[in-house]
Amino acid sequence: MLDSGAFVTPRETTRQDPEPAGSADAAHRKPDMLHPMLNTAVKAARRAGAIINRASQNLDVLTVRSKSPNDFVSEVDRDAEAAIIDVIRKTYPDHAILAEESGSSGQGEYEWVIDPLDGTTNFLHGMPHYAVSIALRQKGVITHGVIYDPVRNELFTASRGAGAFLNDRRIRVSRRTQMADSLIGTGFPFRELSDFDGYLAMLKAVMPKCAGIRRAGAASLDLAYVAAGRFDAFWEFGLAPWDIAAGALMVAESGGLIGDASGDPGYMDSGAVIAGNPKVFGQLLTTLAPHIPARYRQQRTKDTPAPPAAE
Ligand code: IPD
Ligand code: CA
Ligand code: CA
Repeated sequence: MLDSGAFVTPRETTRQDPEPAGSADAAHRKPDMLHPMLNTAVKAARRAGAIINRASQNLDVLTVRSKSPNDFVSEVDRDAEAAIIDVIRKTYPDHAILAEESGSSGQGEYEWVIDPLDGTTNFLHGMPHYAVSIALRQKGVITHGVIYDPVRNELFTASRGAGAFLNDRRIRVSRRTQMADSLIGTGFPFRELSDFDGYLAMLKAVMPKCAGIRRAGAASLDLAYVAAGRFDAFWEFGLAPWDIAAGALMVAESGGLIGDASGDPGYMDSGAVIAGNPKVFGQLLTTLAPHIPARYRQQRTKDTPAPPAAE
C-alpha cells in the first residue's frame, strides 16, 4: 500500500468530521428482505469465500501460474469461480455468465459478471485484503452486486433502487467536501509498464492535493470502500468489467458518483474508473483531467483492443 500526502494533526485539520461510515442513516435490513437474485449472489459469494479462507491457511501448497507478466492465477481462483457458477447455474440455468477465469458463456437478458478472487496478488502473499465480486446485469444494466471480503466477513450488497449495505447496515458515501481532507484509493499500472509515466503524472497531481493515497490491491473493495465512506474517492484505469460491475452499483446506490476518464458512463467498456462522493468526485476529475493519457479517453469497442490493465 502506498501512503502519501500531508500529515495533519487533529488540531490542524479543517475537516468536518463526518459520522463514522454506515452510522449516518443506519437503516437495517433483514436477510429475508433480499431480492432472490441477490440472495443467490450472496450464497455463491459466501461459498467462494469459504474456499478462499480454507486455502489461505496453506498458501505454500498452491500451484500458481502466470497468465501474463505480474498477473497470476491459482487453483483457488478457479475453484472459487467454479463454485460460484455452480450455485448460479442451479438456480438460473439459462442465464449468461462472464467470469474472469473461464470467460463468457450463454446469451440472453441476464448476465452474471464474476471475479472469483479480486486481489490475487495480495492473497498469494498472505496480505489479508481480497474479495469475491459478483454482479448481475439485466439487458446491460447492473441490477444487483455483491462484494464479499472473507477475511473480515464483510458482505457488501446492493440492488438497483434499494440502496447499498454492509452486512445488514445501510451504507453511504462520506460527507467530506474537500479533496484536501480526503483519503483516495488508486491502482498502479503493473502489467504494462509503458503506462507508467502517464500514471506518475496523475499521482503527482493528486498527491499534494489530498490527505492520503492508498493502493490496497483489490479494485472491487476499493469501490465498496468508497460506498462505505472509507475512501472519499478512487481512480484506476485499465480495469476489467468483473473488477468494476458490483462496485459501480454499490457506489451509485450509496449516493456516490462513478464515471470513466471523462466522468461519463462508459467505464464498463473503457475500464477507466473515477468514483467518489459527489463533491470529491468532481475535484478529483478536475485534478486528473490534464494528465489523463489519451488512450483512456477513448471508448473501447469491439474493434479497439482494451488498454493494458493497470494494477
Ligand atoms: C486486480 C485487482 C487490482 C487491480 C487490478 C486487477 P485480480 O484484480 O483488482 O487491485 O489493480 O487491475 O486486475 O487480478 O487480483 O483479480
Ligand atoms: Ca480483479
Ligand atoms: Ca481475479
